[in-house]
Amino acid sequence: MKLAYAGRASGDVDATVTITARAEQPLPGFDLDFRGPKITELSVDGRPATFTRDGQELVVTPAAGIAEGARFTTVVHYAGRPGPLKGDALGTYGWIPSKDGAVALGEPDGTPTWLPVNDHPRDRATYDFHITVPSELQVVANGTPGAVAKHGATTTYDWSETAPMATYLAMVAIGKFDVRRTETGGVPVITAVDPRYAGAARKLERTTVAAMRWGVETFGPYPFPTAGGVIDDPPLDYALESQERPVYGGFSPGERFIVHELAHQWFGDSVGLRDWKDIWLNEGLATYAEWMWTEHKGGESAKSVFKRYYTQPGASPVFAPPPGSPARADLFGFSVYTRGAMCVEALRERVGDKTFVRVLKAWAAQGRAAPVTTADFVAVAEKVSGRRLHRLFNAWLYQKGKPKKW
Ligand code: ARG
Ligand code: ZN
Repeated sequence: MKLAYAGRASGDVDATVTITARAEQPLPGFDLDFRGPKITELSVDGRPATFTRDGQELVVTPAAGIAEGARFTTVVHYAGRPGPLKGDALGTYGWIPSKDGAVALGEPDGTPTWLPVNDHPRDRATYDFHITVPSELQVVANGTPGAVAKHGATTTYDWSETAPMATYLAMVAIGKFDVRRTETGGVPVITAVDPRYAGAARKLERTTVAAMRWGVETFGPYPFPTAGGVIDDPPLDYALESQERPVYGGFSPGERFIVHELAHQWFGDSVGLRDWKDIWLNEGLATYAEWMWTEHKGGESAKSVFKRYYTQPGASPVFAPPPGSPARADLFGFSVYTRGAMCVEALRERVGDKTFVRVLKAWAAQGRAAPVTTADFVAVAEKVSGRRLHRLFNAWLYQKGKPKKW
């Protein structure tokens, strides 16, 4: 994608996005998801295509049908001011203006606010970013940095995400940053911190490196070419595990927050979901990683955290709703994270520590071979442990109220 950002005053972008795809069936036409500004041109395989927009649907009819198996290229040119989604239980996300620029955070369905995509977690692609900004600003995105080309008043930053990535993990941060670079185990670690959080820059870098070392021992090889993190200023009070470079929105993250987002690089970004309803696989495992980190550091054990939560009444938000198939508004709710992590502790207690670590490593080792479901996790846990575990997962993921027997 080529995207020029005019600056904070107008907030305008002028973008040309090139999407290369393969038709899995004969296509007389196709839909993309896009809520962004006015489209001025759209072509497929070099020929102008007709299109209509209906809410988020961008319905494209190419001049000629596309044959099954064919690779085709769609180019979309648009210009105007993108904006965030906000107001519902999911907070503010998508293209979010910041004090000095903007930051794009997609999870779950915010990426179409600024980028035309097939917005589904299982449709992954590599990304090339060429982003032009006023020269007093910088750009940080997913993956590996490339050229920085200054042409007087504007500067173009290249970044490339070479590992297939779900749309919701696509991230761009435009603004003024304190950028730091280090490496661990041969993996470049690039962090960028808004000046307002200047005091947190060293800690973000140091903790990210420490958590990566621990993550590699605990989950297996780090799944991407680079790592890092961004602290930006919009007061979002959440973080997002954007691939290779999580973003912390408007706060200085503590160790456990950093561990959580880093754990998502294995669980969520590399091993990625087939469907949003299985979001506990991301959030339960990342929350459990926090508990393991605290235990590893000599703090409270995961077993004790589990016990503390287990004494809560059945109607408490720890237990309701069951985390296995949440409604949209509950995707990032307390029970998905906490009861999801309790499910993981229940598994650990059932199979024992050694087998449990083998389950985690086997789960991470699948990498991005294919998008995953809860049934896949149960199958891996059963295979590695040699036990029947359906009752345990049923009780912890799907049954209403506090699980009593599993
Ligand atoms: N996956 C993120 C995390 O666990 C949370 C994303 C929340 N998204 C949102 N729109 N509120 O850190
Ligand atoms: Zn998370």
